[in-house]
Amino acid sequence: MTNEYVLILDFGGQYNQLIARRVRECSVYCEVKPYNKVSIDEIRRLSPKGIIFTGGPQSVYGENAPAVDRQIFELGIPILGICYGSQLMAHLLGGEVETCVTSEYGKTETCYDKDCVLFSTIKNMPEKAVSWMSHTDYISKLPEGFRVTAHTENCPCAAMANDEKKLYAVQFHPEVNHTQYGLDMLDSFLKNVCCCTGDWTMENYAEKAIRDIREKVGSGKVLLALSGGVDSSVLAALLSKAVGNQLTCIFVDHGFMRKNEGDEVEAAFKDWDINFIRVNAKDRFMDKLRGVSDPETKRKAIGEEFIRVFEAEAKKIGKVDFLAQGTIYPDVIESGAGDAAVIKSHHNVGGLPDYVDFKEIIEPLKMLFKDETRKLGQELGLSETLVWRQPFPGPGLAIRIIGEITDEKLEILQDADWIFREEIAKAGMDRDINQYFAVLTNNRSVGVMGDFRTYDYTLALRAVETTDFMTAEFSRIPYEVLAVCSSRIVNEVKNINRVVYDITTKPPATIEWE
Ligand code: XMP
Repeated sequence: MTNEYVLILDFGGQYNQLIARRVRECSVYCEVKPYNKVSIDEIRRLSPKGIIFTGGPQSVYGENAPAVDRQIFELGIPILGICYGSQLMAHLLGGEVETCVTSEYGKTETCYDKDCVLFSTIKNMPEKAVSWMSHTDYISKLPEGFRVTAHTENCPCAAMANDEKKLYAVQFHPEVNHTQYGLDMLDSFLKNVCCCTGDWTMENYAEKAIRDIREKVGSGKVLLALSGGVDSSVLAALLSKAVGNQLTCIFVDHGFMRKNEGDEVEAAFKDWDINFIRVNAKDRFMDKLRGVSDPETKRKAIGEEFIRVFEAEAKKIGKVDFLAQGTIYPDVIESGAGDAAVIKSHHNVGGLPDYVDFKEIIEPLKMLFKDETRKLGQELGLSETLVWRQPFPGPGLAIRIIGEITDEKLEILQDADWIFREEIAKAGMDRDINQYFAVLTNNRSVGVMGDFRTYDYTLALRAVETTDFMTAEFSRIPYEVLAVCSSRIVNEVKNINRVVYDITTKPPATIEWE
C-alpha cells in the first residue's frame, strides 16, 4: 500500500517543518521539498493529492525571489498557499502584491467568510478568531476567479479562494498554535478539498517498514550503534521485529550516562530477540579525559574514543551487510538535499561509517518526525521510559561537568540530576519541558551547614522549552518546585551548598553549558 501523498513546496520560511508536522497530525503523509528541486514532470509523477506552498522571507518582486512554474496551477491538483506562498500564488496568477502600510506580526483578530470550505466545515468556529500573522507584503489585487475569504483590520485579503480550481491561500499561519482553528483549517483543506481519507498511522507504517526492511536485508547482518536515545531505541525495536537476531546492537557505555541509565538501557532490551552488546568503557574514557577541561577537547576526545571502542566491537562481529542509522526527518529537511547520512554521521557518530566494514547504510526512520518516532516506539511495545526519554547529548554528563571530570564530580552530578528529574516528574512537568538537567559548575562558594562553614560546589539547574532546539526559552518552573529541588539537593547530595536556576534563552546561551 502506498499512502496518500501531499507535497509541501518549501520557500524557506521559518515554520516549514511545522506545516509538515501538522499535516502528519491530520494523518496525511507529506514530504517537504525545496521549491527549486522539483520539476513539473516530477510533480506529475508524484501525483500528490494536494500541494502546500510554504511561507518564505522574500518579497515576490525581490531579485531571485523563489517561484514555481505557472503550469503547477493547471495540473488540477488542489493548492494551499501560506504567507509568502499565498502572495506567490496571487502574483503568478495575475494579481498584485504590495508592501503593507502597517505590517502585521503576531496574534491578529481575523474575520472569516463562513462560506469558504476551509472554515465552513469547522464545528463551532466563530466568524472572528485570532490568527498568527508575520508579513510585510499583502495581496492588494486578487487574480481573476478568486474571492476574499478572510480579512483583518490592516489586511484586506487575509485569505482568498478559487473553488473551481481548488486554489486556496491564507496570509496567516494556520500551522502555528496561536492561530485558533488553524489545525482544523489544514485538516479541512486535506480532507474536504484534497479528499484525503487520512491513512497515515504508525500502525500502518510499522507494518510497511517491517516488510521493506525484510525485503532489503534478506538474510544479511545489520549493525546498530544504540545510544539509548529515542531514535536509536525505536530503530532497534523496529529492526528487531523485522530481522530478529540478524541485528546486533552495540551500546557503548562511556560512563557518562545519567544515574542508572546504562542499566536501564540494557534491561529494556534484555528480552528482545537481538544480539545486544554492552561495552562498559568508562575507564577508557576517563583515561582519555584526565586533565582535560576545555569543552571542545572533551567532546573530541569522547567522539574519537567512541569510534575506537565501537570499531573494536564491530570487528569482533566481522563483516556486516548493513549499518543502521537513526536519522529522522528533520535532519533530512535541514540538509536540504535529502542526503541525510552525511549530517547524522558527523553529528552523532563522528564519521562512523568510515571505520566499519559494511555494504550499505539503512535509515528506516528517515521520513518520521520525532513525535511520530515516539508513537512508532509505543506501537512496537518499547517502554515509556525509552519512548519519552528527553534528548541527551552524545558526550553525556561529561559536558555537564565544567572543568576536569573526576569520579567524585560525576557521582555528585548524577545524584543531583536524579533529584531534579524526580521532582519535575512529581510536578507533572516532565512531558512539557523539552529538556531539563543539572550542571555541575566549577564554582565553589562559602556556605553554612549547621554550625559549620562549608566551601562547596554550585549546581545549576537548566530547563528549556523549545520546538526545534535551535532556539529555546527557559522553562517557567514554579518557585515552589524549584524550592523543593534546591532544598533536597543541598540536603541529600554531599558537596553542593548552592543551587542556581539558569534563566537564559537560546540564543545567546546554548542549551548545554559546554
Ligand atoms: P546546544 O547546547 O547546542 O544543544 O544548544 C542543542 C541540542 O543538541 C543536544 N546536543 C547534542 N546532541 N550530540 C548530540 O547528539 C552532541 O554532541 C550534542 N551536543 C548538544 C543538546 O542536548 C540539545 O538538545
